[in-house]
Amino acid sequence: MPGICIVGAQWGDEGKGKVVDLLAERADAIVRFQGGNNAGHTIIRDGEVFKFHLIPSGILYPGKRCIIGNGVVVDPHVLTDELDALKARKIDTSGLRISANAHVIMPYHLLLDTAGETKLGKLQIGTTRRGIGPAYADKAARLGIRMQDLLDEKILKKKITAALDPKRLSLRPYVKDPSLDLQSMTEAYLTYGHRLERHIADTARIVWDALDADRLVLYEGAQGALLDIDHGTYPFVTSSNPIAGAACVGAGVGPKDINEVWGIAKAYVTRVGAGPFPTELDDEIGEEIRRRGGEFGTTTGRARRTGWLDIPALRYASRINGLTSLAMTKLDVLSGFEKIKVCMTYSGPDGAEFSDFPYHQSVLHHARGEYIELDGWTEDITECRSPSDLPRAAVDYLAFVAEQLQVPIVLVGVGPGRDQVIWMQESAQLAAVA
Ligand code: GDP
Ligand code: IMO
Ligand code: MG
Repeated sequence: MPGICIVGAQWGDEGKGKVVDLLAERADAIVRFQGGNNAGHTIIRDGEVFKFHLIPSGILYPGKRCIIGNGVVVDPHVLTDELDALKARKIDTSGLRISANAHVIMPYHLLLDTAGETKLGKLQIGTTRRGIGPAYADKAARLGIRMQDLLDEKILKKKITAALDPKRLSLRPYVKDPSLDLQSMTEAYLTYGHRLERHIADTARIVWDALDADRLVLYEGAQGALLDIDHGTYPFVTSSNPIAGAACVGAGVGPKDINEVWGIAKAYVTRVGAGPFPTELDDEIGEEIRRRGGEFGTTTGRARRTGWLDIPALRYASRINGLTSLAMTKLDVLSGFEKIKVCMTYSGPDGAEFSDFPYHQSVLHHARGEYIELDGWTEDITECRSPSDLPRAAVDYLAFVAEQLQVPIVLVGVGPGRDQVIWMQESAQLAAVA
């Protein structure tokens, strides 16, 4: 029953989409288990660019089950647009399945997300404004609308009314917003339900069947460990758990159904939105990394903040995910830097030095990286396809990171293209299904 979980080991945008696409060739089912269309997963295949926000990154292979699990929050408007765009590109989307229990992002969630950010002013989180937080809040408050509710007019209307009632005060500035009209909202969402009905299913059962038949299942995480609502840099986090443990809940499987956990990390660090970032570079090196790495958000187009690789943060991500393997992407972006810095510890404002990722918010806000310098390399590595093609200094960099984390690096990204990878070692689970 092989299951591999792919999770972001930093603040998102590590290249999860590319890795999932790569592994999906050997999988039967690919399951998104949390988040929503705050995610933006890029796949570049034969020069063609695909950006997925909700649809799992295995969709480019016909015949695979691509599952939006119960842990995801679904904006049906975005999902139908995504389906239409794929159909226009002649991609077969018949394998898409959406959990009947997945919660729906409603128009009021979008308004409340923006209203919440505006109210926070300077303290805003920098959310993607896709309604993610308010949708998960309604789920926890048991006021959520689920995919199955879109198939029944009476139930849907009742549930929308119940969900709107406690929000009357906060939605007062939007009373005239046409998207909030009960009748037209109900009709619009019934139409989405009708359109998506053939994809709505008991997805946990489908995953179980695939596992039971000894097929490979991939659990595709969105966001990253440091955006986790419990373990990340709260309150500057997303509203779900992007760590591997959440795959059980968000896909409906047990812990034994995850055999490997692959953390995806860039060879440096980026972050979109506000919040602490101990290794952030506010200088021309940071700008250079942004330029070379094309570090602009897939979902919102915002410039990503950039910084050097942060070992304490990565070690922390490894621990809370139980990483069995690491895939390091974007190594090519570091080519040409004479020296590469790696953060080994943090220092606080009082001169204290610590090597663990701080659990205390104010400590983390003031933490600054303390670095060692490694040799860089000048060679273009985008054509390298095996470890022996890499310059010595690049091999040393990878070995150093693996040693620090005590996690083997299985895969290295040397460019955005599907073939621009170096396999460092074979995964036992992948070998089993080859
Ligand atoms: P995700 O959200 O984790 O799936 O990552 P995104 O798609 O948001 O951002 C990753 C970006 O890096 C995308 O533009 C990818 O095409 C690109 N990318 C992925 N791996 C590599 C790599 O190894 N090298 C380079 N240069 N780009 C990469
Ligand atoms: P992928 O899956 C990077 C960030 C937002 C903001 C915070 C909360 O592409 O890696 P939200 O809209 O979730 O309430 O915003 O989380 N964020 C991401 N950053 N990659 C993502 O997804 C993200 N999804 C949310 O920028 O700081
Ligand atoms: Mg992304």
